[in-house]
This record gives sequence, C-alpha cells and structure tokens, in this order.
Amino acid sequence: MSGSKVNGTVQINEEGHVSTDLPMLEGSLGPKVIDIRKLYAQTGHFTYDPGFTSTASCDSAITYIDGDEGILMHRGYKIEELASESDFMEVCFLLLKGELPNAEEKAKFSHDITYHTMLHEQLIQLFRGFRRDAHPMAIMVGVVGALSAFYHDSTDINDPHQRMIASYRLIAKMPTIAAMAYKYSVGQPFIYPNNELSYAENFMHMTFSVPAEDYKLSPTVARAMDRIFILHADHEQNASTSTVRLAGSSGANPFACIAAGIACLWGPAHGGANEAVLTMLEEIGSVDNVQEYINKAKDKNDPFRLMGFGHRVYKNYDPRAKVMQQTCYEVLDELGIKDEPMLKLAMELERIALEDEYFVEKKLFPNVDFYSGIILKALGFPTSMFTVLFALARTVGWVAQWNEMMEDPGQKIGRPRQLYTGPAERPFVPLVKR
Ligand code: SDX
Repeated sequence: MSGSKVNGTVQINEEGHVSTDLPMLEGSLGPKVIDIRKLYAQTGHFTYDPGFTSTASCDSAITYIDGDEGILMHRGYKIEELASESDFMEVCFLLLKGELPNAEEKAKFSHDITYHTMLHEQLIQLFRGFRRDAHPMAIMVGVVGALSAFYHDSTDINDPHQRMIASYRLIAKMPTIAAMAYKYSVGQPFIYPNNELSYAENFMHMTFSVPAEDYKLSPTVARAMDRIFILHADHEQNASTSTVRLAGSSGANPFACIAAGIACLWGPAHGGANEAVLTMLEEIGSVDNVQEYINKAKDKNDPFRLMGFGHRVYKNYDPRAKVMQQTCYEVLDELGIKDEPMLKLAMELERIALEDEYFVEKKLFPNVDFYSGIILKALGFPTSMFTVLFALARTVGWVAQWNEMMEDPGQKIGRPRQLYTGPAERPFVPLVKR
C-alpha cells in the first residue's frame, strides 16, 4: 500500500451506536481516502456504495484524473502532450514500466512487441466456428479468452517473467485478432502481420489490405490511428479495468482477465458508447431533429440518453474528446470529406447540448466516445468494430493495472459484501402444500 497515513480521523456517530476512529490515507494527488478496512471488524457495519461513486478500490500510480478540471495524466504526463508528442509504443512502455523510454529502450520494446504479433495458426479454426455475422466483440471475448489454451508458458501469474511475456503477447496480438475479426466478417482472407510496419500501420495493413494489390496508407491516417490508441490506453479504475482487477484478484490467468475486461467494455454505457454514438447520429439524421433528441435525453420518462455525453468522473470536458475532435478535423480534411454530414450533425448536437440548462446543470460534456466514432467511420471501419478498437487500445491499460495489482504484496481476492433485503428465515413448504 503506497498511501501514507495522515492526521485526522473520521468519527461515525449514530445515536446508540459505537463510534470509531478511522485513519485517513493521502496519495500524491487527488482526494484523501478514509481507510475503512477495519470498519466492519470494529463496528459490525458495512459501507454502502453501489456503482462505487465514492469508493477507491485500490491505490495506483498509473493514471490520474481530475474530473472537475478535466485533467488526465499517465504517470504524470498530460494526455494532451502524450497524444501530440509521443506514439503508442512509448505510451505502452510508460504505462507498463512507469517511465518514458529512451531511444534504445523504445527500439527494443517495439521489436519485442512486433515479434509477438503473430497468432498461433490453430486459432484460425476458432474463428471459423463463428457465424460470419457474429459481432466482432463476441469474437474478441472468445478468442482472447482462448489464448490461455495456446500460451501455457505465460500463465504462471507468480512468475514475473511469464507475466511480462503474457503482457507483451496481449498487447501485440490484439491488433492481429481485431483485424482477423473484421476480415472474417467481410469474408476476406486473413492478412498476416508485417514486421516492417509500426503498430498502427500494421493494424491498418492487416485490416484493410488484400492480397490482390498493394496497400497504401497515408501517414496522416496512420498517425491518427496511433493517436486514437493513445487516447484510449488507460483511464484509472473504470468499469472494465475494475473487472480485470477483480478477475485477476482470484488468480485467474491474464488472458482470462483481459477477456473479462473486453466483455465489460462492450456495454453501451462504457466502451460500447462509440458505436452507440454513430447509431444515435444516424437515428437523429438531420440537424433539424437535434432539439427533439435533446428533449428526449432530458425527459426522465424516456430511457434515451445522449450517447457520448456525460461521465462518472469528468464534470468538465473530457480532455480526450478535445484531442479527438482535432484529430477528426485532420482526418476528414486529409480524406477530403471535411463536410462529412455526421461531423456537422455532431458539432451542432454538441453546440446545442452545451448551451442547454439541463446539460450545463448536470455537467454533461462530450466524452472520449463522442467524436471517435466519426473518425473511425471515416477511416473505413464499420460501427461494429468501434468498440473492438477501444478494447485493442485499452489492453495496455488493463495489462498495466493487472501487473500493478499482481506486484502488490498486499493483494487479496476482491469480495464485496451487500445490504441484504431478502426475506428473513422461514420454514420450507413441501411442493404438495404449495
Ligand atoms: C467511457 O469510467 C470511465 O473512465 C469510462 C471511460 C474510459 O475511458 O474507460 O471514460 C470510457 O465509458 C465513457 C462514457 C461513455 N458512455 C456514454 O457516453 C453513455 C452516455 N453516458 C451516460 O450513460 C452516463 O453519463 C455515464 C454512464 C457515462 C455516467 O453515468 P453516471 O456517472 O452513473 O451518472 P448518472 O447516470 O448518475 O447521471 C447523472 C445524471 C442523471 O440524471 P438525474 O438522475 O441526476 O436526474 O445525469 C443524467 C442522468 O440521467 N445523464 C444523462 C446522460 N448522462 C447522465 N442524461 C442524458 N444523456 C446522458 N448522456
């Protein structure tokens, strides 16, 4: 545990109940925490926090978010600087090892990742078992979970070397698996990795090239893909990262843990939002209909929510959304479609929402998913692949957080309690009497 004890305690006083002193812990940035690990033993009470709105589940040195200020940092470096000054391989090294690599370290890391990009050939049979119209996220969950059946030599979670190999394999093979999921869905042949290409170039090559002709990739598009990976790399203890940590806390192998993270990310309230944004924009269809949908989003009796808006932590602009918006302009300009109707519709939707009292009062701003779908559509990805790309990029964050947990000597299985609201004990009633 890296938090340090500070002065000051928290009294829990209830009429007739035992009060207790609880220590406070302070990290390097952000709110102090009340250390409640001994609360139940001392008071017989649980805390109650469904959705974990006020709960720190761990201590971590990887990512810091200040939701009020709209700040996101990885190991102390602001996301804006990482997105403009570094590349995804540097960010992967930073997340995994805590420091930006020098030139030699970067070259070796990139080489090591590159030489793990191929998939065991037998896994192709697993792809063949899916329907062609299977959602690619279903394929990702299945194939990534199955990796533990092929890479037994990196499943011993107590061996730091095996943890590192499994980490590299996961980072390296996600683009290959994601590209294969796409190829399978469109009935084209799988394309093997090319070790001469960068991580983002290789992914685009495996996804969009065909054996019948050379594949030409613009540097602007490759850079945009790399930047999109950076923007999705890690994000503190979000739902899918917490899922990976909880799965890992039982000692499950890393491939199973990442498959669990992929499954959680799929939800439209989380990583599935980028696909949901495009579906929503297509449903809105025209700027003329924007106000109607804004009203639906505000209507308590209407389940519709403005996808790509709002965030559990950010009560200000998601800093990733601003970089994503800029990248959107660059890509659409490069592709000669800067008048893309979806972009115009999204910008109008954003303008109207940000002026609306409901969104202002509830501090609902665009999040990382609001613009990403528009870029990915412009790059040629079907909407069903949007969350796959999120999972591809977030794998390094999941793996870094999993390693941090596994290296914590105090690590123990996560096992929350509950507030029981069911029936008290009652006698069994035999079937004949029911
Ligand atoms: C990601 O956690 C992370 O870090 C996630 C992520 C990452 O990188 O890992 O950042 C990635 O998941 C981004 C979020 C993508 N999801 C969406 O864009 C889906 C739309 N957004 C909402 O579903 C919602 O904003 C959440 C799920 C993102 C956050 O929900 P919370 O924190 O539980 O907030 P809430 O549902 O309690 O909302 C607070 C109020 C509610 O109104 P009241 O009940 O207080 O009257 O705001 C309203 C909500 O109804 N609200 C919205 C809204 N989001 C919240 N109303 C309309 N449209 C929305 N999008």
